[in-house]
This record gives sequence, structure tokens and C-alpha cells, in this order.
Amino acid sequence: TTAAISTIREQVKAWRSKGETVAFVPTMGNLHQGHITLVNEAKNRADHVVVSIFVNPMQFGPKEDLDGYPRTLEQDSEKLVNAGAELLFTPTPEIIYPKGLTKQTYIEVPNIGDELCGASRPGHFRGVATIVAKLFNIVQPDIALFGCKDFQQLLIIKTMVEDLSMPIEIIGIDTIREASGLAMSSRNGYLTEDEKHNAAALKRAIDHVINAIQHNEDPQHAIAHALEQLKKAGFTPDYFEVRNANTLAQAMPNDNQLVVIAAAYLGKARLIDNVSFSRH
Ligand code: PAJ
Repeated sequence: TTAAISTIREQVKAWRSKGETVAFVPTMGNLHQGHITLVNEAKNRADHVVVSIFVNPMQFGPKEDLDGYPRTLEQDSEKLVNAGAELLFTPTPEIIYPKGLTKQTYIEVPNIGDELCGASRPGHFRGVATIVAKLFNIVQPDIALFGCKDFQQLLIIKTMVEDLSMPIEIIGIDTIREASGLAMSSRNGYLTEDEKHNAAALKRAIDHVINAIQHNEDPQHAIAHALEQLKKAGFTPDYFEVRNANTLAQAMPNDNQLVVIAAAYLGKARLIDNVSFSRH
């Protein structure tokens, strides 16, 4: 069932007063197997699962896809009931931002929030951190689950929780992919069938660079090749980088925990993907 803020608070309070644990999965809806995996994992780790569906206007830029973002609440609710989520929170923008977006307190995570997707999408991570903090304060879960697909987002949430001493454990879940390797995403729905076929080149390009690094080849050379392959598949790359997987800082020669992380435009979609690995 979907519920008001007060109902969510009362239900979660009732559960917690019985000593039961609560897991929370925030989403923007248009649910696919990646989201459902988070819900399944939440069920494994807590007594109760709360899910939110909210297309958060604060995290979209003025020229981005807020209006066109797919909204499929009916199908989503059905999937969530089947997956065993007990409480669904689907607020309107007016409930979440009664003062509007510009007069509202916000949260900004410095450094890590400013580069990669933060550089290409100014204000995006401010919107993400602010809505996630608000949702955490509404739901007050013991644990919250996020996908590694949005690797920078996951690190930003972990940093916010640590910096602001929020009593919530953050759990990252591996990326769920199509058979082609394409990471599942609500934005894949913007792709034509041809584009969807070509979109699998993004994961192949990332794997190519990891393979080169594991064979001690020059990463810059491998990245140049990867970018060529992406352009051949019709992508316009935004960034394609090797970073430290724990901090997202530039990879240093001695770093062993690495992530290859990329964003690229294809047709009407901006796709992101990453794979983290340890250097042999
Ligand atoms: P959304 O894109 O709907 O994603 C909700 C959650 O599902 C995020 O934690 C995301 O990382 C995870 N997810 C998406 N695709 C995945 C996949 N293929 N495999 C595994 N997990 C996947 O991310 C957001 O919404 C928003 O920014 C939000 C955190 C809800 C704040 O508005």
C-alpha cells in the first residue's frame, strides 16, 4: 500500500518497537530486475522492506528528462507486491518540496560530488543527497540498499551518512545486466532496438580496458581504443576513466582497488556504467 509521511513513520515505529528491522530501497520507479534485486536483497537482510518511488525534480538539470522520465506506477506496485515489499511511499513533489526547490535546505558532498557525473550534471548530486537524506529521515530505516550501477552515487551516499553520523547501514548491490552485458536502466527505454543492440559496446569497452590493465598494458592506449569502439557503435562519450574504487580519486600507480567508470550518450539516452576490480 502507498502511504502518507505520517503513516510511514507510524508503521516503521510500530515495527521497531517490536525489535524488528527495516530495510529501505529508494527508487525513481519504472522498475526493472535491478531494482527488484535490491528489494529481494533487502528482504534477506531485514524483517520489513519499505520502497519509495519518487522522480526527484531536484536531481534533474533544466535541459534533462524530468518530464519524459518513464512513470509506470501501476506495474511498479504490482512488481513490488510480488517481491514482498510491504510499504510503498510515492509522494508528490508538493509533499516533498512544499517551499519549491530553491528555498529548501540542501546537502552537498564536496570533492567526490564535483567530478565525473557531477561535472557533467551540475546540481545533480546535490539533488540526490538532499532527497536521500529527506527519505532517510521520513523512513528511519536500519539499512538502505543502493546499486553499484550508480557507483558515484553510492559513494556519495556512504560519505554523507558517515559525515552526518546518520545511523543507517548502506549496502551496495552488484549491477544487474541484460544478456548482452548492457546494465539495466530505466533510461534504456529511450533506445531504439538498433541502439539497444549497440549499447552493449559500453560494457565491452570497459572490459577491454580492465583486460589491458590486468595485462600491464598502457591504460591510456586501451582507453583510446575503447573510445574508438564506442564512437563506432554510435556513442558520444562523456567521460571514460580509471579511478581508485574506494575514493574515486585519480588512479595512482600503487592503487589496486580500481574502477573503470564511463558515461556516454546514445540516441536520446545518457548511459552510465562501471566495473570495479582488483589489479593482480
Ligand atoms: P533509480 O535510477 O530508480 O535507481 C534506484 C536504485 O536502483 C539505485 O540504488 C540504483 O543504483 C539501483 N539500480 C539501478 N539500475 C540497477 C542495476 N542495473 N543493477 C543494480 N541496481 C540498479 O538512483 C536513483 O533512482 C535515484 O538517484 C535515487 C537514489 C532514488 C534518488 O532519487
